[in-house]
Amino acid sequence: MSLSISDLNFSSITLGTWVFGGTSWGGADDTECVRVIHAAIDQGVSCIDTAPIYSHGESERIIGKALAGKRDKIVLATKCGLIRNPDGPGVVHNLNRSEILNQVEGSLRRLKTDYIDLYQCHAPDPDMNSEEVMQTLNQLKDEGKIRAIGVSNFSPKQVEECLRYADVITCQDQYSLLDRRVEEGITDLVRQKNMGILAYGPLAGGVLTGKYKDEPDFGGADCRTFFYQYYKGDAFQKVRQILDELEGLGHPLCELAINWVRQQKGVASVIVGCRTVEQLEKNLVALRWELSTQELEKIDEIINK
Ligand SMILES: NC(=O)c1ccc[n+]([C@@H]2O[C@H](COP(=O)([O-])OP(=O)(O)OC[C@H]3O[C@@H](n4cnc5c(N)ncnc54)[C@H](OP(=O)(O)O)[C@@H]3O)[C@@H](O)[C@H]2O)c1
Repeated sequence: MSLSISDLNFSSITLGTWVFGGTSWGGADDTECVRVIHAAIDQGVSCIDTAPIYSHGESERIIGKALAGKRDKIVLATKCGLIRNPDGPGVVHNLNRSEILNQVEGSLRRLKTDYIDLYQCHAPDPDMNSEEVMQTLNQLKDEGKIRAIGVSNFSPKQVEECLRYADVITCQDQYSLLDRRVEEGITDLVRQKNMGILAYGPLAGGVLTGKYKDEPDFGGADCRTFFYQYYKGDAFQKVRQILDELEGLGHPLCELAINWVRQQKGVASVIVGCRTVEQLEKNLVALRWELSTQELEKIDEIINK
């Protein structure tokens, strides 16, 4: 199954690669990451999502290596505007024209390609001038360095502002059974404007697979600890209760969580992070079935309790 927006063909599942490179997410094996990419392509995944900030460019480098001879099989999505703070911990938002022009060259080099299919603003920069950002991306499109423009983590108002200056085709946002903020404006906007949602974090970073029976401890610097807020204390206990009830529906939890997102309005593709081929293959089984209307209602009931 796939969906075309502006000539880009999005498979229902996009391979997410935040974990690749492993510096921020409990380590990762580069050889296995390459195997994951090859297995994904062999099994019909047509889109890969990455960003220069993932493991300081390592995620893009691994993808560039893995796509040798296979580049034309993939809609390659990367991002700009979020960089590591060179002076200390944390990140810096920067969507200045010169920064975007600089970042795109770095991504092209690491990805070993001369074009990026979908170039996304990773997150809003509080100081951004939307017109300048979009004109810069339009220029990259005219130069053939990118094929289409997307935004990520933008509010509906910010997306509308960007649409005044450019043909933005996707909104990449967190969307899972546990996080439905996208429904507060993005879903309707995307449908009105014939855009698509690329839904990230469908497994809430792994917790929705049900693999943690007890509260895990990843250590302070691990992304899961600060990005997905479901791993500690009361939040974790609440998720465990939800999972116990969802298990009653009789589906593997990872498939249920992916299909729930996949079946929501406006979703063009669900970006699923896979550390191993085994995880990828388990997740792809979700594409063989769908949740019924009754099951979707039951899930709503469980998560809204
Ligand atoms: N635009 C943005 O701001 C933004 C933010 C976050 C993510 N993203 C993108 O969206 C992608 C997906 O999000 P995500 O990777 O953060 O979270 P996710 O897809 O919700 O969870 C991915 C993690 O779940 C675990 N997992 C996956 N399949 C599994 C299975 N079958 N059984 C057991 N565990 C499984 C793995 O955890 P382990 O590592 O524990 O093995 C994997 O790293 C990212 O990779 C990235 O491309 C974008």
